[in-house]
Amino acid sequence: MKPRLLITRKVFPEVMQALSQAYEVQANPDDTHWSAAEFHARLANCDALFVVATDRVDEAALQAAPHLKIVATGSVGYNHIDLPACSARGIAVTNTPDVLTEATADMAWALLMATARRISESERWLREGQWGRWAWDQFLGADVHGATLGIVGMGRIGSAIARRAAGFSMRLLYCNRSAAANAAELGATRVELDALLSQSDHVLLVLPYSPATHHLIGERELARMKPTATLVNIARGGIVDDGALVQALQAGHLAAAGLDVYENEPQVHPALLAQRNVVLTPHLGSATRSSRLGMAMLAARNLLAFAAAEPLPSCLNPDRRPAGG
Ligand code: DGY
Repeated sequence: MKPRLLITRKVFPEVMQALSQAYEVQANPDDTHWSAAEFHARLANCDALFVVATDRVDEAALQAAPHLKIVATGSVGYNHIDLPACSARGIAVTNTPDVLTEATADMAWALLMATARRISESERWLREGQWGRWAWDQFLGADVHGATLGIVGMGRIGSAIARRAAGFSMRLLYCNRSAAANAAELGATRVELDALLSQSDHVLLVLPYSPATHHLIGERELARMKPTATLVNIARGGIVDDGALVQALQAGHLAAAGLDVYENEPQVHPALLAQRNVVLTPHLGSATRSSRLGMAMLAARNLLAFAAAEPLPSCLNPDRRPAGG
């Protein structure tokens, strides 16, 4: 008998087809929203689970899944999965690094440019029929070329963003737990977070979310930024205190923000929706066809390797408790 796989979201047909070779698949073809209770009920009989970044695989989910042996997430971030709890149960966890790096770096730049040059705000104004004449001071934005860019988190995606900055002749600062091996090649200088915030014209957040980075950017940090600066969050909601961000934008402590992720996704702080100087996108960092297909395929390769008792291409807990141990 094939092992049973639960897939929480509608996924590419080629991925479904590949997985169906090795698994008895329970899918969600209409992309129906499942409450936590509905999700947990479906976990009761599954051996393998394919989730996305907004599905919570926490202690309650694990308790509802007594047969679970592998969780494959179609994301590089894995803060939605209780990794220690999975490891203690001998459950393998895999993610999708690398395949989304370049698309996410492109998106970071798209948000930065749109935010600094007021693209969304001016487009809304134009669509409202407000454009009567050209004026010298219409929607003046911030220079990107020649400015100082501060990148918080210099992993794969941070480095890919930094490489693109060379084309804009920018001064590059970064803040990271450890020194980046490629910093000299990128022309990036490592500084403490406070220095990065106070010296940068544009701040880009690209670090993983964890209890240690919860509200890393709050009232105090926002107050350190230049009033002309922009803040872009392409990482995870919860790294920025959205309430504090609203206040900083309203008080003029910050010129503008570009957000792809939010504290209570898919809910967005209502005051952010009303704020003219923010660009808001619905968690699209990796959203190109090739990148999303690459992510889904890598998740599938992990699941297929597991079913075949082969080494997993991108396992997060190779040191988990041995199965049956
Ligand atoms: C990731 O891979 O972590 C992205 O945020 C997509 O969910």
